[in-house]
Amino acid sequence: MNSAPDNTRIVVLGTGGTIAGTAATPDDVVGYRAGQIGIETLLAGVSLPPGTRTEAEQVAQIDSKDMTHAIWQTLAQRVAHHLARPEVAGVVITHGTDTLEETAWFLQRVLASGKPVVLTGAMRPATAREADGPQNLSDAITVAREPGLSGVLAVLAGTVHDACDVRKANPLRLDDAFASGDAGPLGVIAGGRLRWLRLRGDAAGSAAPGVPSSRPAAASHPALSQPVADWPRVEIITSHAGATGALVRALCADGVDGIVVAATGNGSVNRELQQALVAAQATGLAVLCSPRSGPGRAHQSAIDRLPMVDGLTPAKARVELMLRLMERASA
Ligand code: SIN
Repeated sequence: MNSAPDNTRIVVLGTGGTIAGTAATPDDVVGYRAGQIGIETLLAGVSLPPGTRTEAEQVAQIDSKDMTHAIWQTLAQRVAHHLARPEVAGVVITHGTDTLEETAWFLQRVLASGKPVVLTGAMRPATAREADGPQNLSDAITVAREPGLSGVLAVLAGTVHDACDVRKANPLRLDDAFASGDAGPLGVIAGGRLRWLRLRGDAAGSAAPGVPSSRPAAASHPALSQPVADWPRVEIITSHAGATGALVRALCADGVDGIVVAATGNGSVNRELQQALVAAQATGLAVLCSPRSGPGRAHQSAIDRLPMVDGLTPAKARVELMLRLMERASA
């Protein structure tokens, strides 16, 4: 019988992904199906830090490219439910790596808790000869048990990332699959021991305009209760050579509430596309630019006419704009 004090319970929520994927042979690390193995089974194959009690719950079983707002809402509700239990020290979520950064930012923005939420996944299916999932899950549980930690983190390949900074940076490689850009990872974990590399917080300083901070959101975010059919619709357009305003006009005609622009270079936008966006903005469309150029930070200039969010990928910026619109509507 486990005699650990009963505030060391970690709830592990399964949503699918490669970590729960299966292939026909142990050598196949590409032609597999994500989201096949239940979270109870995954957890049974993991060595846990001494004294850890776990509880498993299957929230979804998908390839994360198919993540939906409805699953996000259910996931956020389940995480909030478990974090409110005094005996729960933290929540771990197993997730596909393809949209892990979006879910991380969504949860960071809608949950308010003094406890950690740790996302993890894997680059190789559970059936692979050298599957990375079990170690990642074990490391995520170790981090979730860390005293005094709060907010949303991602733990993969022995590295701890902040929800704000983490992004998928390589489609195949194990060690470099996730990166935290200019901010760098928060910490590393090896042999069950966690070592912090930097303090949490925004490297650019939370006072900088347009820079999201990773502080917990308000106590009860509308995303937890508002029907997902009523969530603002935000789409992403990429600024590129030869861009036009046609997509902006088509989306506006289709009733979109906001557009995120994956902007070139230091947040610049193709002239024709910018003209269409500025015109649409004047009629009430919400616009947010996010540099498409990777992990470096951009600097908005005084002549820019469109608002920019720095430090978030375009996919995360879409989440950010959707949540801002929701917050504005319910204020
Ligand atoms: C997924 O995102 O569900 C599939 C890919 C992965 O987990 O690496």
